[in-house]
Amino acid sequence: MDKILVTGGLGFIGSHTVVELQNEGYEVVIIDDLSNSSEKVLDGITAITGKTPIFEKLDLKNKEGVEAFFAKHNDVKGVIHFAASKAVGESVQEPLLYYENNIGTLVYILKELKKLPSAAFIFSSSCTVYGQADELPITENAPVKQAESPYGNTKQIGEEVIKDTCKVVPTLKAIALRYFNPIGAHESVEIGELPIGVPQNLVPFITQTAIGLRQELSVFGDDYPTPDGTCIRDYIHVVDLAKAHVVALGRLLRNKNKANYETFNLGTGKGSSVLEVVKSFEKVSGKKLNYKIVGRREGDIISAYADTNKANDELGWKTKLTLDEAMDSAWKWEQKVRAND
Ligand code: WQD
Repeated sequence: MDKILVTGGLGFIGSHTVVELQNEGYEVVIIDDLSNSSEKVLDGITAITGKTPIFEKLDLKNKEGVEAFFAKHNDVKGVIHFAASKAVGESVQEPLLYYENNIGTLVYILKELKKLPSAAFIFSSSCTVYGQADELPITENAPVKQAESPYGNTKQIGEEVIKDTCKVVPTLKAIALRYFNPIGAHESVEIGELPIGVPQNLVPFITQTAIGLRQELSVFGDDYPTPDGTCIRDYIHVVDLAKAHVVALGRLLRNKNKANYETFNLGTGKGSSVLEVVKSFEKVSGKKLNYKIVGRREGDIISAYADTNKANDELGWKTKLTLDEAMDSAWKWEQKVRAND
């Protein structure tokens, strides 16, 4: 079966995607610099699929290292590119780190793919490119807005770099997958989210509060123009999201794509407020969550959830797992990680 490179393959979404690629029979090679992950994730993947992917520790900012990798693995048929820095707040403080790590490395990879007889490229993008969309649910035709952070800007620029390259490299086909909010963990509890330091995202902060690592959850504002006053997001189970990557890759490898560059929104199509997520957690865990309402967080948009028609119709993919199932899996994973601390 085809050999697929997964950059950032030991990360949260990357590791879940490696599992689904192996389930589909692909040979997987992972590049990861371990800056935001651990080699132990390989054991989790192997425990689930019985197959250990090839792993090469490499910082993609090392141009010669990228060239050497593709000289060695010139039989790679596709790349799923997750490797990037992704902390919104940090990107405001360290913009050059983000432009170098998220854009510079993308250019190095695309330059190597240009040399191959053909290549399928899946890009990890984000609904953050839409900012606060004017219309909900959000379709792929919604205007890309001025990014709220250098992180979001690197996703927008990354899409443009790929689109411009596909125009002049006929052997390169690409799909940008615009994720909404990935949450949860694999049902085996062998892999999941491993945030380093204080989690920025809602769900890991909830589970770390419940397990006693954090004092209480701060809910960033309940004075938004939403039913319960808290922000609304489209929380998608990471396993549903991982499966979408395998479907998108197959679309390109089997030449089913309608253009050399396509974008798809990946979400459930349902919006959930912060307090609804808290309630879901309390329901599945049977625990009362300690939280307090505080002021709004700078840069937060009010509401975002996906119009899923294009992904449903074109990819033949839709989410199967619910918010409760995602919260249940996140909680089971948190308990497992802490039990092994
Ligand atoms: C969700 C909601 C917060 C933490 C970001 C990135 C996006 C993607 C996912 C990488 C918001 C509220 C959160 C907390 C809270 N990242 N919240 N207390 O901001 O929608 O998206 O992460 O690809 O690109 O922008 O996700 O989980 O940070 O916040 O009240 O301690 O939870 O205000 O309304 P967000 P989030």
